Amino acid sequence: MSNATTEFDPKAFRRALGNFATGITVITATTPDGKRAGVTANSFNSVSLEPPLILWSIGKNSGSCEIFEKASHFAVNVLAADQIDVSNHFARPSDDKFADVDFQDGLGGAALLPDCAATFQCEAYETLDGGDHWILVGKVVAFEDAGRAPLVYHQGSYSVVMPHSRFPAKKDNEPAAIERLKSRFQDNLYYLMVQAVRAYQADYAPLQLSTGLRTSEARMLMVLQETPQLCRKDLLKEVNMPEAEVDNAAEILQRKGLVSLEDDCYRITQQGEDQAEALWDLSRQEQDKMFADFSDEEVATFKKVLKQLAGR
Ligand SMILES: Cc1cc2nc3c(=O)[nH]c(=O)nc-3n(C[C@H](O)[C@H](O)[C@H](O)COP(=O)(O)O)c2cc1C
Repeated sequence: MSNATTEFDPKAFRRALGNFATGITVITATTPDGKRAGVTANSFNSVSLEPPLILWSIGKNSGSCEIFEKASHFAVNVLAADQIDVSNHFARPSDDKFADVDFQDGLGGAALLPDCAATFQCEAYETLDGGDHWILVGKVVAFEDAGRAPLVYHQGSYSVVMPHSRFPAKKDNEPAAIERLKSRFQDNLYYLMVQAVRAYQADYAPLQLSTGLRTSEARMLMVLQETPQLCRKDLLKEVNMPEAEVDNAAEILQRKGLVSLEDDCYRITQQGEDQAEALWDLSRQEQDKMFADFSDEEVATFKKVLKQLAGR
C-alpha cells in the first residue's frame, strides 16, 4: 500500500474513487414558492434503519443548493438501466430542468419521476458540512420499490448489473444434490450467457488494461477510428458516459497523443490509429482463443443467435 499523503492529484483521486461502483439517482426538491431542483447524484447511500435515514451530498457550488436548503422534503429517484437520458438531463445545469419532463408531485412538492427502480421520499433531517459538499441527511417517510434493473456507474461509465456466478468451480467431492441443482442451471440459457460473459470479461480485462487504457477510453478511441472526425455532441451520443466523463476520457486520450481536438471536434491521430488497431488485434486474439474449439459454422450460428437476441 502506498504511503498516506495529504497532497495528491485530485483527478487521480477522483479516478480511484470511480472504482467504487454505485447506482445513480436524481434527487429532487421544491421550495415553498415553487422553485424546482433536480440533480443527478451517485453519492446517495443508506444510513440508518431506525430511524430510517439516507444521505447524499451536493457540491457547494451547485446552482440547486439554495432550493434544497429551503425545501421541507426531497425525493430520491433511483434510476433504472434504461434511464441514461434522464441521468444526462439532470446532470446538465439549466434554468428549467423540468420543462419537458414527465413527473408527479410528491411530499413537499418534490418531483417523482416515472419508471424508476425505486423512490424514497424524505423529510429534510440534517445538513452537515462535508468539505466542498453539503451532506444532506433525509428521513424516509414513504418509499416505492419497483425492483427494475438499476442503472450503475463505474469508472466514469454507465453499466448494468449482471448476477455473479452462483457456483464456484466444480470440486470432486461435491454432494449429488448440488450436482443436480447445477445441471438445472446448465439448461438455462440466460444463466449460461451470463456465465460466458463473465468468463470472457475476466480473461480479456487484464489484456485491455495492459494497454494503459480503461474500457471507456478504449471504446472511445475505437469509435473515433470508425468515424475519423466526430464533433463533441455526436461523440456524446456514441458512448454511454456522462458528459463530464466523456470530456475527462477525451482529455486523457489527447494527453497520450491519440486524439486531437479542433473546433470542438475530435480527430484520431496516426498514433491513435495504431493504438486502435492494436486494440482490435487484442480483441481478435481473445476471440480466436475463446472460440478455438468451435468450427467456423458453429461460430457463425452463435453470432446469428446473439445478433437476433440483441436486436429484439
Ligand atoms: C453520474 C453522476 C453522478 C453525480 N453525482 C453528483 C453528486 O453526488 N452530487 C453532486 O452535487 N453532483 C453530482 N453530479 C453532478 C450534478 O448532477 C450536476 O453538477 C448538477 O446536476 C448540475 O446542475 P445544478 O446547476 O443544478 O447543480 C453527478 C453527475 C453525474 C453524471
